Amino acid sequence: MFDVAAIKSQFPLFAHYPELVYLDNAATTQKPLSVLDAERHYYEYANANVHRGAHRLAVAATDAFEGARSTVARFINASSSDEIIFTRGTTEAINLIANTFGLGLRAGDEIIVSTLEHHANIVPWQMLAQRNGVIVKQLNITADGEIDLAHLQQLLASPRAKLLAISHASNAIGSIQDIKMMCDLSHQHDCKVIVDGAQAIAHLSVDVQQLGCDFYVFSGHKAYGPTGVGVAYIRDDILRELPAWQGGGEMINVVSFAGTTYAQAPQRLEAGTPAIAQAIGLAAALDWLASLDRHAALEHETALHRQLETGLRQIDGVIIHGSARHKVSLASLSFRDAHPYDVAQFLDDRGIAVRVGHHCAQPLIHTLGISGTLRASLAVYNTADDVAQFLVALAETLDLLQ
Ligand SMILES: Cc1ncc(COP(=O)(O)O)c(C=O)c1O
Repeated sequence: MFDVAAIKSQFPLFAHYPELVYLDNAATTQKPLSVLDAERHYYEYANANVHRGAHRLAVAATDAFEGARSTVARFINASSSDEIIFTRGTTEAINLIANTFGLGLRAGDEIIVSTLEHHANIVPWQMLAQRNGVIVKQLNITADGEIDLAHLQQLLASPRAKLLAISHASNAIGSIQDIKMMCDLSHQHDCKVIVDGAQAIAHLSVDVQQLGCDFYVFSGHKAYGPTGVGVAYIRDDILRELPAWQGGGEMINVVSFAGTTYAQAPQRLEAGTPAIAQAIGLAAALDWLASLDRHAALEHETALHRQLETGLRQIDGVIIHGSARHKVSLASLSFRDAHPYDVAQFLDDRGIAVRVGHHCAQPLIHTLGISGTLRASLAVYNTADDVAQFLVALAETLDLLQ
């Protein structure tokens, strides 16, 4: 039996807002006490800069920071902690890869980007195209919101296809991709794969070696960790060849005006003082997630998701977007007779937090032929009562607005 009350009690925010129904988890999750404690403990007992100085606090801080890197590596089953680069989040991780691996591509090389992507996995590739002449190829989706595999095959058949940029799970409509299959397919064509795991990491068990991806990126704050920290996993054979992208302290070997040499990865790709406390907090979040029965947690979220979609189908005037076979636990909605913004406002008045808008996925929203959706997204601490309250409030709101 999955004890959701015991889980929820570990999140201090809910003690301050006992009536809150928080269904905006795809935007950011709440943080368990162990994450807050880990950051506080670092500042209280080990605060110093890392990789510098010979005093004991500097050693403690460095050990904690490098320990966090090892925790991340274990959590996604990277073959070495050196394959983990700390970034500010998913967005910076993708920009890092665009400005290193991407910059090494040639004019005319093709980057396949799916229509499902968040702007963070579109715009850096477009900016790269302006810099070095790579070509961004849009990968179509089906009416269900799944990747059009025939189109993917067609795009991969081009000898210039060098990178597939694909989300593990869509933030806007929830579709989960068969990443292993897409990596196998892409590699047959000598095309690398970057996976945006921002919406997957908190829900699915991620094993980068089993998936076979070349790059996997995610943000701490969507996985019960702090803001300001994220991860770029880069497979060792690729990482070794990547140039530095930002210059500064920590990333060098020797600096002189005659010329500078750079450190090995991961330090080569982490210029300046990193987000030490946040990395430690992220490790605490991943340890917290790993301490759950992940299978039971996923079953709990899946059951809530089923309850949510079943209830939504019974409310007149609700349109559910995205009907992929596999979805993370979110529902993206529009309404026959009401605007999502108005509905969200009414829900907020009743203490129900949802997200409304284009969810930084304008190409997808445009393809769906709408201007935005209301998104209710679930996390492991949500309860059947949260879903029931949302459904009742939504039905009453639509009655009122129709
Ligand atoms: C699928 C996806 N990719 C990328 C991002 C960007 O994440 P961040 O803003 O934490 O860098 C998000 C955030 O909503 C997302 O959902």
